[in-house]
Amino acid sequence: MEVITRPNAGQAVSLVARLLLSRVFANPEIVLGMATGRTMEHVYSHLVASEVSFKRCSSFNLDEYVGLEPSDPRLYRQYMHDRFFSKIDIDPANTHLPDGCAADLQKAAADYEALIDSSGGIDVQLLGIGIAGHIGFNEPLSSIMSRTRAKALTPATRLQNAEMFGGDPDNVPTRALTMGVGTILEAKELILLATGSAKADIVAKAVEGPITSMVSASAIQLHPNCKVIVDEDAASALQGRDYYDFVFANEPEWADYRD
Ligand code: F6R
Repeated sequence: MEVITRPNAGQAVSLVARLLLSRVFANPEIVLGMATGRTMEHVYSHLVASEVSFKRCSSFNLDEYVGLEPSDPRLYRQYMHDRFFSKIDIDPANTHLPDGCAADLQKAAADYEALIDSSGGIDVQLLGIGIAGHIGFNEPLSSIMSRTRAKALTPATRLQNAEMFGGDPDNVPTRALTMGVGTILEAKELILLATGSAKADIVAKAVEGPITSMVSASAIQLHPNCKVIVDEDAASALQGRDYYDFVFANEPEWADYRD
């Protein structure tokens, strides 16, 4: 794992966007793993402003709410359409999210896993982190081997996501269909982005704490190709900063990204 701290959120977001664009540029048929949430909105703004073509890419989102109508504007399908898919040249048929509106969620989950497999697997998976440590919607106690499935959302997550539901956590769906931690760990590369002081403690737990199903994001420590990009605020509880900064300042792979 590498942990890169940038001076502010804008620079952290910009670094993540540059990394992703470099991956698309190197492999135009890349399979992208996408995330939603407020942090990612800024990444999508950067990506859509680029000249890079997504025409031959395909994408798989981490998660989708369960229990909303297919036309509900608060679905992550709509979020992705509004902020990203409708603004780039990707073929909509190649964009995938778990079907949280399906009558049979177990089948929808199994179908999603099969689709990821048949695409050859996810090349690079973008991740945010919830304040209780979820990646995707893998709430505490999610097995590190878990696969795509329906998961009950914690009160903390429903509070965190209330903004899109009129500010009332009671209006936030109680369940989501999410890739499992095991599904996420099978992506060839992980890039986790966190910004802001509210994420400082959980970033430190995920990066430096024990690997535990109580903090799903701690499972990224098992991944052989994982980058964590944070701003100063989100980095503020990390113990190993000096070494992480030394790696960023000295390792050749980061030479193009230091400005
Ligand atoms: C959503 C997802 C979540 C978010 C996380 C952070 O697809 O994967 O894990 O990334 O809840 O959300 P924000 O950025 O809104 O704090």
